[in-house]
Amino acid sequence: MKSKTLVIGASGQIGTELTHQLRVLYGFDQVIATDIQPPVGEIPEGELFDVLDATDGDAVRACVEKHQIGTVYLLAAMLSATAEKAPRKAWDLNMNSLLIVLDLAKDGLIDKIFWPSSIAVFGPTSPKQNTPQACVMEPTTVYGISKLAGENWCSYYQNKYGVDVRSIRYPGLISWKALPGGGTTDYAIAIFHEALKTGSYNCFLTENTVLPMMHMDDALRATLELMHADLSDVNQFKAYNIAGLSFSPKDLSKNIQGQIPNFKILYQPDFRQSIADSWPSSIDDSEAAQDWKWKAQIDLDHLTSDMINNLKTTLFTPND
Ligand code: SER
Repeated sequence: MKSKTLVIGASGQIGTELTHQLRVLYGFDQVIATDIQPPVGEIPEGELFDVLDATDGDAVRACVEKHQIGTVYLLAAMLSATAEKAPRKAWDLNMNSLLIVLDLAKDGLIDKIFWPSSIAVFGPTSPKQNTPQACVMEPTTVYGISKLAGENWCSYYQNKYGVDVRSIRYPGLISWKALPGGGTTDYAIAIFHEALKTGSYNCFLTENTVLPMMHMDDALRATLELMHADLSDVNQFKAYNIAGLSFSPKDLSKNIQGQIPNFKILYQPDFRQSIADSWPSSIDDSEAAQDWKWKAQIDLDHLTSDMINNLKTTLFTPND
């Protein structure tokens, strides 16, 4: 079994933090970070980085062969709001990159894959509260359609070729280290930046729009726990529901006001409102809890103070 790990899309919101954790866990010489763009600034000594287009099958194969990769974390994707503006491009990126990596596993070049799915696989006809692992899934966004198709491809490759591909339906992920790009749940990050920089935020969702969310630390722990679980404990090769928190912009703004009393929020919903309206409010993660003992740990108070404390430092400290 080859031991090295490849992260595709390593400079994104999840990739930035996951790559660091993988390096700490397995060793800096064991993890190869890749992204379509070179990183801003110098690559720190000891970190391995290649420029890689996730949709270029020959390049991905060559990278896997060159570094003798055993495990791939495929994180490159176009998120929900951006995908609505470029549907074909989103489909091409989100699907082709997955099929390329699944084929590498089918051909025996890699042993294991992590590929993120999303709560966006659900749609307006899915139950809204405590949305179960399996239910009616009729997503109305390009992002959701691509994630649902991706889940089915994962399960197909697992059934037909024995590919070990594991996946999680991430809720909205809240983090301070790297900015997200183009998601509907991203208001819950932008709100902290604006609260600290200007003291007010113009929210693109209505005040009572409740969505499933999670602190990045919980999401990273879920990812690694699933990847480290015995294969015999993994019963779901589509993607596991995981739940963290459920809150609305109003709930979050009240919590922020607890720490920044003058913070003001205004509501000006745009096209992202209908995306949010099509998604669940809360998630039933009992299968993940049963199969690999998943349990979220970070509550809204912890999330709020962690975001404010860390962003206070990073936003207002000069880089050098
Ligand atoms: N955070 C994603 C988005 O808003 C959902 O998985 O697009």
